[in-house]
Amino acid sequence: MAKAKTYYFCQECGYQSSSWLGRCPECGKFGTFVEEVVKVESGKRRVESAVGGSEPKRLQDVVYSETRRIETHCGEFDRVLGGGIVPGSLLLLGGEPGIGKSTLLLQTALAIHDRKLLYVSGEESEQQIKMRADRLFPSLERRGAESEAALYVVSETVTQRIFEHIEAVQPDLLIVDSIQTITTAEVESPAGSVSQIRQCTSEFQHYAKSTGVPVLLIGHITKDGTLAGPKVMEHIVDAVLQFEGDRNYGYRILRALKNRFGSTAEIGIFEMQGNGLREVPNPSEFLLGQRDETLSGAAVAATLEGARPMFIEVQSLVSSAVYGTPQRNSNGFDMRRLSMLLAVLEKRCGFKLGAKDVFLNIAGGLRVSDPAIDLAVACAILSSNVDIPLPPRYCFAAELGLSGEVRPVSRVEQRVAEASRLGFEKIFISKYNAKELDRKRYNLEIIPVSLIEEAFRALFA
Ligand code: TYD
Ligand code: MG
Repeated sequence: MAKAKTYYFCQECGYQSSSWLGRCPECGKFGTFVEEVVKVESGKRRVESAVGGSEPKRLQDVVYSETRRIETHCGEFDRVLGGGIVPGSLLLLGGEPGIGKSTLLLQTALAIHDRKLLYVSGEESEQQIKMRADRLFPSLERRGAESEAALYVVSETVTQRIFEHIEAVQPDLLIVDSIQTITTAEVESPAGSVSQIRQCTSEFQHYAKSTGVPVLLIGHITKDGTLAGPKVMEHIVDAVLQFEGDRNYGYRILRALKNRFGSTAEIGIFEMQGNGLREVPNPSEFLLGQRDETLSGAAVAATLEGARPMFIEVQSLVSSAVYGTPQRNSNGFDMRRLSMLLAVLEKRCGFKLGAKDVFLNIAGGLRVSDPAIDLAVACAILSSNVDIPLPPRYCFAAELGLSGEVRPVSRVEQRVAEASRLGFEKIFISKYNAKELDRKRYNLEIIPVSLIEEAFRALFA
């Protein structure tokens, strides 16, 4: 007989304790411990290997074949995965509710037309899934009815039942939407609790490793960006993909936070449309497509997202503060970094920005963390402050230091090459970066600067 035992789990990081604690010794959060009932097998603990205990082999005798990866037929998704889904892998797709995770995976499932797939949903009924599928793929009916390669859907939340369905369908790929709604009979806590998530994830992992069938799990993340319930899954799964974007805008970015089978530097870019997600292979052309070129306060930054160049418009508005305390607001750019840049501009260029309201916006609802955006942010602010528009075909790629020095950034050749390809006339970069470039190779003028004042004089004097 199995006996029930209770433990306390930190809902933030999954730390387990036999007594209640006010503060988690692992992550330091307060009041996160919740009591959960865990069923413990009596007698000897089952010894079960997650990877399906095989004999030790000499490394050179181990064979694998790259071609066995399942292609998703979606260039952006494959790129992030590192060229398709590896057999036997367990993938987690995280993202805020409503960002488009179910849409992405259902769309992918419909696109993989040469395999048999099982889509398990704990959130939606089969009818709802069908309605969504009709929206995404109106020609679904025309797919051969007798075809072996089909997409099976089922609405189910208990893992034991899910494995029965798997037994019946024998899929080549399993999708589970979402891990927070799934429970296992092994554990008595409610769905979405740390012990349920941990146990269900390891059941799916065991299934994936022992049969070679890849499993894609959807997981919701909380507002502050952590995987709800959560961190506990990150080290069990082979890859953690994050789907992000501003829900009010169409762009969605798929990023690998961890990937055992590919690079984490790659990102996939999508646009959410009325009939699903569309791939965006040339994000810069897309993002710069809607520019109004005559307004002050706009500057183009040559940033890199992962390994891809992405040219983004930075918009700024500087105006005299109406109230005593000036307002500072930024969308898509770190507030502390903005304060620092403002302090540098005040000290170095002598602008009295301390008495001004400063608003900053990254066009398209994107969030940028590449430090190379600094110079564009500073120039956008200066342009708005003096109310002189920047020439439309100028772009910027440099970091700013505390003393106003323009610092070099990584992969400058790639940025300059992309600027040249997009038809920019001038790119402002650090003089240290300019040294390593062969200027004759590019079809645009490279302006090396070493201090922010120089950039200011070159632009507005
Ligand atoms: P969904 O995939 O349900 O989000 P998640 O699974 O991450 O919670 O997508 C939610 C949003 O996407 C929903 O608000 C409607 C929108 N949407 C479109 O704009 N176009 C579409 O074709 C579909 C299916 C959804
Ligand atoms: Mg969903």
